[in-house]
Amino acid sequence: MRRLFPLPAPSATSPDGTDAAAPPPGPTDREWTLDELAEAYAYPAPDDPAYARRGGWLRANMVSSMDGAAHHEGRSQPLSGDADMRIFGVLRALADVVVVGAETVRQEGYRPARAREAFAARRAAAGQGPAPAIAVVTAGLGLDFGLPLFTEPLAPTLVLTGAGAPADRVAKAREAGVEVLFAGEGLGVDPARVAGVLAGRGHTRLLTEGGPRLLGQFAAAGALDEMCLTLAPVVAVGAAPRIMNGPAVPVPERFALASVLEEAGFLFTRYRRS
Ligand SMILES: NC(=O)c1ccc[n+]([C@@H]2O[C@H](COP(=O)([O-])OP(=O)(O)OC[C@H]3O[C@@H](n4cnc5c(N)ncnc54)[C@H](OP(=O)(O)O)[C@@H]3O)[C@@H](O)[C@H]2O)c1
Repeated sequence: MRRLFPLPAPSATSPDGTDAAAPPPGPTDREWTLDELAEAYAYPAPDDPAYARRGGWLRANMVSSMDGAAHHEGRSQPLSGDADMRIFGVLRALADVVVVGAETVRQEGYRPARAREAFAARRAAAGQGPAPAIAVVTAGLGLDFGLPLFTEPLAPTLVLTGAGAPADRVAKAREAGVEVLFAGEGLGVDPARVAGVLAGRGHTRLLTEGGPRLLGQFAAAGALDEMCLTLAPVVAVGAAPRIMNGPAVPVPERFALASVLEEAGFLFTRYRRS
């Protein structure tokens, strides 16, 4: 893994005060520790003006093929790689809650997030439980509440839906012990309300893992604070959507590049709302 951006400022200066004699520090390619990755991807501090203004932080983590596919035959794994999975795990380990669309849960067979010894002290110091909760966004609640995602989590799995969601399905979820939270007045969730509802549960470090339809709504609602995008050196072609899928925004929104890491041809980019 090496950092391509931002590079550290040159430290050596030549006697005449210029940097000419000192080569710019090149990026070193070596295995980063989990602690180094956790530092590189730390959430903004609560007193960060953007974090404080919004009362939390919604980060997304997605992988895309070179040609823009967000999955291959329904799965993101064929686009991913070792370093991508490592960063995926680190981002989960830093989050209070992972917000995910129901179709991703169904397609990818989501299981509860696990506790990892390597992050135990960091999470405890941040006032977090041993593993992030998973919050599934759904309108129809067409989910199997007997799955381990709902029956065996370390932190109770949440269901986020709208007040108009089918009452029988809401009742079914609650019978199974699942906590259902409403974040919208209609059938579905209002993406702009998700952060506030989760903050009410003490979750302010939010991570969304998509999928593209959910992420498109977060972005269009102006609710996305940070985008962690892995560009995989693979070509998928096909009809898979891009990492955001939905109606166009009236004006494309600009984000600021925060960092770029590289390993094995994968680019790990991070953009912040500017
Ligand atoms: N490349 C990546 O990093 C990445 C990441 C994640 C997923 N994926 C891939 O993306 C595919 C799935 O993505 P997707 O875009 O089709 O689906 P998705 O965004 O994961 O989920 C869509 C579902 O979420 C629920 N939903 C979305 N917006 C909602 C709202 N406003 N209110 C209530 N419910 C809402 C609905 O669930 P109900 O139908 O239950 O009502 C909807 O059918 C999978 O193939 C997966 O492998 C790729």
